Amino acid sequence: MKNHFLFSTILMLLISIGAYSQIEISTNENTLLISAEKGKTARLLYYGDKLSEVSHFKNVGSSLGGGRDLYPAFGLNCSGEYAIQVTHEDGNMSLELVVENTNQKVENGVQLTTIVTKDKVYPFWVTLYFKAYANSNVIETWTEIKHQEKSNVTLFKAFSAALQLPAGNHWLLQLNGNWASENCITESLLAPGTKLISNKEGVRNTQTDNPSFMVSVDGPLSENQGNVVGGALAWSGNYKLLFQVNSSDKLDIIAGYNEEASHYFLAKNEVFKTPAFLMTFSNRGKGQISRNFHRWALNDGGLYGAKKPNDILLNSWEGVYFNINQQVLDTMMTDFAKIGGELFVMDDGWFGDKYPRNTGKTSLGDWSVAKAKLPKGIEGLIETAKNNGIKFGIWIEPEMINSTSELFEKHPEWVIQQPNRQTIKGRGGSQMTLDLSNPKVQEYVFKIVDDLMTRNPQIAYIKWDANHMITNYGSTYLPKDKQSHLYLEYHWGFEKVVQRIRNKYPNLVMQACASGGGRITYSHLKYFDEFWTSDNTDAFERLYMQWGVSQFYPAKGMASHVSAKKNHQTGREIPFKFRFDVAMTGRLGMEMKPSDLSEQEKAFAKQGIKIYKEIRNLVQFGDLYRLLSPYENNGRTSLMYLSPNKNQAVFFAFNPISRKGSDLPPFKMDGLNPDANYKLVEINYEGDKPRIGGDNYILSGRELMNSGINLGMINGGYKSIVILLTKI
Ligand code: DGJ
Repeated sequence: MKNHFLFSTILMLLISIGAYSQIEISTNENTLLISAEKGKTARLLYYGDKLSEVSHFKNVGSSLGGGRDLYPAFGLNCSGEYAIQVTHEDGNMSLELVVENTNQKVENGVQLTTIVTKDKVYPFWVTLYFKAYANSNVIETWTEIKHQEKSNVTLFKAFSAALQLPAGNHWLLQLNGNWASENCITESLLAPGTKLISNKEGVRNTQTDNPSFMVSVDGPLSENQGNVVGGALAWSGNYKLLFQVNSSDKLDIIAGYNEEASHYFLAKNEVFKTPAFLMTFSNRGKGQISRNFHRWALNDGGLYGAKKPNDILLNSWEGVYFNINQQVLDTMMTDFAKIGGELFVMDDGWFGDKYPRNTGKTSLGDWSVAKAKLPKGIEGLIETAKNNGIKFGIWIEPEMINSTSELFEKHPEWVIQQPNRQTIKGRGGSQMTLDLSNPKVQEYVFKIVDDLMTRNPQIAYIKWDANHMITNYGSTYLPKDKQSHLYLEYHWGFEKVVQRIRNKYPNLVMQACASGGGRITYSHLKYFDEFWTSDNTDAFERLYMQWGVSQFYPAKGMASHVSAKKNHQTGREIPFKFRFDVAMTGRLGMEMKPSDLSEQEKAFAKQGIKIYKEIRNLVQFGDLYRLLSPYENNGRTSLMYLSPNKNQAVFFAFNPISRKGSDLPPFKMDGLNPDANYKLVEINYEGDKPRIGGDNYILSGRELMNSGINLGMINGGYKSIVILLTKI
């Protein structure tokens, strides 16, 4: 470690005196190599597996040869994809960016590299930043753009990063779907030409696609083998991920905010900061990419509140929908506490004094209690929670407004809208989005949370929902000549508000929700402790969606709830144990009226909650090893979470398929210490005794990984098993 620091210091010195033109950005297992010669264009030389010597880069097979522009700019050589395009104040549309200076330093174990580039002629600077996190192998990059021209420069495009991968057989993993089927996986060959993944919703940016991806260089993606690059854009607004297999068969990747309808007039000395792009490389397939992202989220600040375990909660939505009242919620809280629950969350339906919220058509904007439903107010509910020894949380949708609301009567100008056009409305034919570019709206949204928390400091949790997009693109706040700033200003405004909330309420747990899984990005997770994965709580469907989410986002953030026997979204009926076990692979919760459960189910839920408390640290902080993909095995799924010291693991297997007489192949585990012996004990089982495991059920890590275990009895339709492994 000491040597490493000495080496870095010498390197930094050499770099700062300009002796070196190559910049090595490195993590424990990855190298990113850049050529940054003063007065020349910065070039990307290599990104991939850690080089044993920097000088080897030219000769390793995965080298990019002479490299390509690190931040390709439009204007001189106009073919190919570029990351930035501007029009200078004199009308010139080109940029010629060359290195002005570079710097590299290590702060709190994180290596920060800065490359300042400047146009050869114009006073126009693009500074590129790279933060390398050694242990998680994630590199975070973003750019800052500034000029000192006489008047505004128009920024037509300013992406976060441009990468290139060597020629090969490139396969792409992407997440896509729709409401109630968010974040499912598609893998495809990248053929010559351009593939675009984008979002234009304005608010809810991960309902249909997610700004994250994996790309293999050498053939179809595999869980445990092959060179893979993973990327994730940390931006809450519209985005673009562009993949182009170019004429030399190399793969160009460009990622950033979506520039469409978003040209930005950059004033002299104003700094335009692009969203961060996260990248990581694995020589061991997709599994390691996921573990890298999860580690980064848990240890390097990617997920808010990452260090404290998330509570087991009951959310009221599917239990009572809008039919909130003190008595029914009191009963839910008491029943949930009896089975060991820790937190109760009152969902939609609690607010609106003049216009009580009984449907999705009214009241958004009026965040005072509906007195007729809750005569004792939020205080009354907090009292019940306290008496039952559980915490209390509340749902809000602060960026939104209904046309039937007191807020709309007072501030119709706060709605995103255009002159001379009728406003397109969403949910209930009446929902619209507030204009967060307006500081007054930002103040109002902050005050919603601040007022709730000031009056009820015991509120432990907020579910922050967003069920509409940006329609009628226009702002009464932004001047006529800056209407095109709205997509960006909305999200800068959003970030200002959530940052302010975080500064004042650092311990408040917040969930990001947007019609289900519409807000799962590392931009949101910087401020939110968890996300609502999907409104679809069907355990069978969740196997697929949660598998998708797990590619990039950690289980700790993945809210996963046990819901009614007959699922409200699909009508499918799945046994209670299977539903419970699926929910236990993420942040366990329930979403029903516990009084609807039979006595037997209540006893099982009590047992499940107790067991989850015992395995919570493994699930929420462990390393994920995906063993059997539902996508490749008709829903059959298996995964495990392993403690970082490899001493304990929890293994899950699910078999939704009923096929009589067919044996299942053995389940092979992963990540274990091959030389250690592990005791296996089935947990969360039905009946008197476990089918698998016990004092004599001891196998070595090598046996568990190479031969696997036989779970014959898991056959038969919606069967699942949970096994705790302890090193002895
Ligand atoms: C959409 C969310 O995804 C649901 O969980 C629920 O909170 C409803 N909104 C409430 O309107």
